[in-house]
Amino acid sequence: MSFSIRSFISALPFLFAVSTNAFPTRPRGPRGTGSLAARDVELVESGSDGIYVDAHIIAGGSSSTSTSTTIISSTTSTTSSSSSTTSSQVTVSFAVIQSTASATPTASANSTSTSAYSTATSSAAAMPSVLRGVNIGGWLVLEKWMTSDVFSDTNATDQWTFDQTDGAEAALQEHWSTYFTEDDVTTIASWGINAVRIPIGYWAYNNTGTPYISGADAYLEKAIEWCRAAGIKVLVDCHGSPGSQNGFDNSGHAGNVEWQSGDNMDVSISVLETMAAKYGSMDYSDVVFGLELTNEPISWDENDFATTKQWAQDAYAAVVAKAENPDLNIIMHDGFMGPDNWEAVGSAVNGDSSLADSRFWIDTHLYQNQVASDSTLTQEEHIEKACNWSTTELLPASVNLPVIVGEFSAQTNICANPDGSTLAGSVCYIDGCQCSSNVDIEYWNEPLINATRMFLEAEMDTFESHARGYFMWTYKGPGAWGYTNAVKYGLVGDKITDRAYPGQCDS
Ligand SMILES: *[C@@H]1O[C@H](CO)[C@@H](O)[C@H](O)[C@H]1NC(C)=O
Ligand SMILES: *[C@@H]1O[C@H](CO)[C@@H](O)[C@H](O)[C@H]1NC(C)=O
Ligand SMILES: *[C@@H]1O[C@H](CO)[C@@H](O)[C@H](O)[C@H]1NC(C)=O
Ligand SMILES: *[C@@H]1O[C@H](CO)[C@@H](O)[C@H](O)[C@H]1NC(C)=O
Ligand SMILES: *[C@@H]1O[C@H](CO)[C@@H](O)[C@H](O)[C@H]1NC(C)=O
Repeated sequence: MSFSIRSFISALPFLFAVSTNAFPTRPRGPRGTGSLAARDVELVESGSDGIYVDAHIIAGGSSSTSTSTTIISSTTSTTSSSSSTTSSQVTVSFAVIQSTASATPTASANSTSTSAYSTATSSAAAMPSVLRGVNIGGWLVLEKWMTSDVFSDTNATDQWTFDQTDGAEAALQEHWSTYFTEDDVTTIASWGINAVRIPIGYWAYNNTGTPYISGADAYLEKAIEWCRAAGIKVLVDCHGSPGSQNGFDNSGHAGNVEWQSGDNMDVSISVLETMAAKYGSMDYSDVVFGLELTNEPISWDENDFATTKQWAQDAYAAVVAKAENPDLNIIMHDGFMGPDNWEAVGSAVNGDSSLADSRFWIDTHLYQNQVASDSTLTQEEHIEKACNWSTTELLPASVNLPVIVGEFSAQTNICANPDGSTLAGSVCYIDGCQCSSNVDIEYWNEPLINATRMFLEAEMDTFESHARGYFMWTYKGPGAWGYTNAVKYGLVGDKITDRAYPGQCDS
């Protein structure tokens, strides 16, 4: 959530100053609209470097009023405020210009007034306006397809069965302490990534009656400290829920879906309360921006979508009650139903808060390689579909329901010809043609790399302008599922915002 001056006034009075006297020619507000005070203005700052600054009205305007914001100056300095925290201080002076078009034809002029001036200084690193992220998948929740080496001496298929194998505890400690380290966080930050989504299973907080091994939370907490030092925001994602919310291996336990049976939904909430008390404490308020309630609960077979929606509201209330941090965002996966099916829940929970102040967010996962119909698209069509997301899946993000794309990937099932043209699927006959689904990424030729980069850039362009944030699945994923591979093989530039194919969604 973006920080608001209102919260600074209470949190950091000694750092905040409203300097009306600095502007001696301050005009009066236009007739019929009250003049604006600093508390009516929200300051939005992007990036720990403070390069991008914007401000907008959150109250005090009227429907016939249009506003614009002028940034007068902005300075950034870095100070060490405690032994463990380095914080970036951003000081911004800005003016909000409020213009009112005259409603009556006899009026002689439009009035313009400069209605609020403020200087705000933030000691907490501010929330970026767009969260540009990767998932740290395969770390605290095992998925065999991503970390097959961890499973190599076992017959295990998921975390549940792995944790029952001989030597599992030592193997997990080895994996947890080596797969993702502080160096990885530094690398991620060097790519211009400002956020991570870290999946963890509920069993780290309550493994009663299960074979699950506990201990992952200690590693999550190390990662949060590394992220804080690197200026990266963290979304703590409860990726596996009691009983399994989807029956996929990514829930920890492949097979039956029993999340909505017995007391599993209540235990899910009590685990989230534990997590909210921990990660929603003020000690973490500068780094943990959100807690995700559950990941990819299915909305068919054993799960009833109406039950899921009611549970999300109950879980939201329970987390808000336990989280000390008033800006902690509570994020719910859409259950594969699309964010638009959550608008009523969003309205009920977020009420009339502005988009920037809404704490209940929806996470949608946008892949183009999971259903058969996607394998009939050429890369041009995949790109068009990614551009279209702005008017389909991501549309609710423009009302008061913030939407993040918690997972997406560069992987599509396409083939690229030597002349750069592409075809759908996984078979082609022209000499030199390669298909992404059956050629190892280290052998991809330039046409396939370029076609994949075009798609990835189009996805990210859409997310940049239409989502609150986006998180590629996943940092160390295989093939075009991996951000590390994407950098290594040229599917993305040195910085996540670099573009070789700018403006693909503009037309
Ligand atoms: C007020 O501004 C609007 C928009 O710029 C313009 O169309 C209108 O003619 C202006 N009215 C007067 C009276 O200047
Ligand atoms: C895996 O399963 C096979 C076949 O049942 C068995 O022979 C082997 O001992 C098992 N390996 C381990 C490590 O349990
Ligand atoms: C932990 O899980 C067990 C088994 O599901 C449950 O009975 C118990 O209430 C849970 N503890 C807490 C504190 O929620
Ligand atoms: C993109 O949206 C347009 C307009 O709705 C539609 O005609 C087109 O088929 C869509 N393209 C894809 C690939 O979904
Ligand atoms: C691939 O893209 C690079 C620039 O990103 C360009 O120099 C090269 O010509 C492209 N290759 C093909 C085969 O399109």
